[in-house]
Amino acid sequence: MKIGVVKEAWPDECRVAASPKNVQRLIKQGFAVFVESGAGVNASFTDQAYVDAGATISDVKSAWADVDIVIKVRAPMERKDLNLHEADLLKEGATLISFIWPGQEKELVEKLSARKATVLAMDCIPRISRAQKMDALSSMANIAGYRAVLEAANEFGSFFTGQMTAAGKVPPARVMVVGAGVAGLAAIGAARGLGAIVRAFDTRPAVEEQVQSMGAEFLTVEIEEDGTGSGGYAKEMSQAFIDAEHALFEEQASEIDIIVTTALIPGRPAPLLITEQAVKNMKQGSVIVDLAAERGGNTAGAVADKVIESHGVKIVGYTDLPSRMANVSSDLYGNNICHLLDDMGKAADYRVDEEDEVVRGALVLREGEMKWPAPVKKLAEEIKKEEPSSEVVPAIAGDKKSEEKDRGPWVMLLIGAALIAVGWTGSESPEPSFLQQVTVFVLSCFIGYQVVWNVSASLHTPLMSVTNAISGIIIVGGMLQLGGPLDEPATILGLVAVLFATINIAGGFLVTQRMLKMFQG
Ligand code: NAI
Repeated sequence: MKIGVVKEAWPDECRVAASPKNVQRLIKQGFAVFVESGAGVNASFTDQAYVDAGATISDVKSAWADVDIVIKVRAPMERKDLNLHEADLLKEGATLISFIWPGQEKELVEKLSARKATVLAMDCIPRISRAQKMDALSSMANIAGYRAVLEAANEFGSFFTGQMTAAGKVPPARVMVVGAGVAGLAAIGAARGLGAIVRAFDTRPAVEEQVQSMGAEFLTVEIEEDGTGSGGYAKEMSQAFIDAEHALFEEQASEIDIIVTTALIPGRPAPLLITEQAVKNMKQGSVIVDLAAERGGNTAGAVADKVIESHGVKIVGYTDLPSRMANVSSDLYGNNICHLLDDMGKAADYRVDEEDEVVRGALVLREGEMKWPAPVKKLAEEIKKEEPSSEVVPAIAGDKKSEEKDRGPWVMLLIGAALIAVGWTGSESPEPSFLQQVTVFVLSCFIGYQVVWNVSASLHTPLMSVTNAISGIIIVGGMLQLGGPLDEPATILGLVAVLFATINIAGGFLVTQRMLKMFQG
């Protein structure tokens, strides 16, 4: 199967859909790769580097029309140098993998449909754990968050880190990040890395621990309202909550030197969070980088793609932050595509499997037939479920759901008691060891339930690795059984228990250590 890597037509777009490293991987997956001449030059990838990686350099027409799959970054658009729309360059019935934004690009989708194209939108990869490695929105947002801090540093007239020199003392910069999603967390990491004091705010409570684990302070408002929406995204907040945010940011603004805003709810205009009053409250020379500028901006006065000055504060509205780090963003975007093609069976077993949740989510057209949006039914149900929690709820109100949740362990205790009772009536005098074991079993179920259910979802992975390690307690039981002869079932079971518990202990601690290292940078 042939893959074409084409040049981007969007003015100032420096990224390319595959780096030479990605090309090597595509070739390993069994594809023949054709790269349009000059496609990678703005990302510092020469044609020769692609040739060295095993690709064939082609002209624009054959990179588009002589291949089975075209991969690119931006959605197809008018190609001014050829006076042609890119959709018309695609071979009839071929596949296109790129950002598409089908909700907004209806005309483009129709054009591609007329070409009988199969189209997979990288912006529609569902945000589920399995698809993380294909999630191009996240890999690009991560770069954007990092770059936002560099752009802020460029506009800011002072150090990020505090300095004490013979010439004088410079206080550290104070940075506030609004919206701690992928981009926000990357911005926190970059600002902390440069030595700034960082505060962050988000509407999703689950984010608090992530923010704190990165060494930033988590800001809160008086109103308690959960902004967690469906599919890993946020939901729109009530006006009362937004008002409380305005008050918080206006108050914080007088102490803050740099604000990075990343708050967005998919499919909606960006919420206005940094009011003109907040901008006024900032010191002269402060900087705001608004990552949501493309969708109207989180900041009063932000203009997409421009740096403007308002009340002595610079407001940066660049919308091409990943493209400003084209080398690494092309490489990571290419990785996302390679993972998707892995999932689709590589060249040998390539298929567009609609049973695959990831492929189905990304599928916009199949041989010209409209397939987007994918999981309408499921999403509608999810949204329905979410609706009641969109009201403002008082902090201590116990809702029905949590009451139901609280009943869980008691139900388990009851089952345990019933088990003991059955044990009692089943034999005239139950062995004391039986009762002891049932009691331990029931208590461990009870404690286990409490521990797991009360931990926030974001900490489940560290929890799993530590519990894996702790589950090594099995080793004690196993070791106690090892004393007997080797042909006895108890000894064999003991051996097996010791073996698995050892794997758990070693693996658990290894993974925990790796994760801790990630936070230590
Ligand atoms: P995300 O969905 O992971 O993060 C958005 C965060 O904003 C979420 O954590 C959400 O809870 C939070 N949020 C929503 N409403 C809020 C409110 N009222 N107050 C405070 N927080 C609120 O999105 P991701 O992937 O991190 O991207 C963030 C933004 O960056 C998006 O607007 C995206 O379009 C933009 N972006 C901009 C780029 C550029 O070059 N300027 C490049 C890549 C992404």
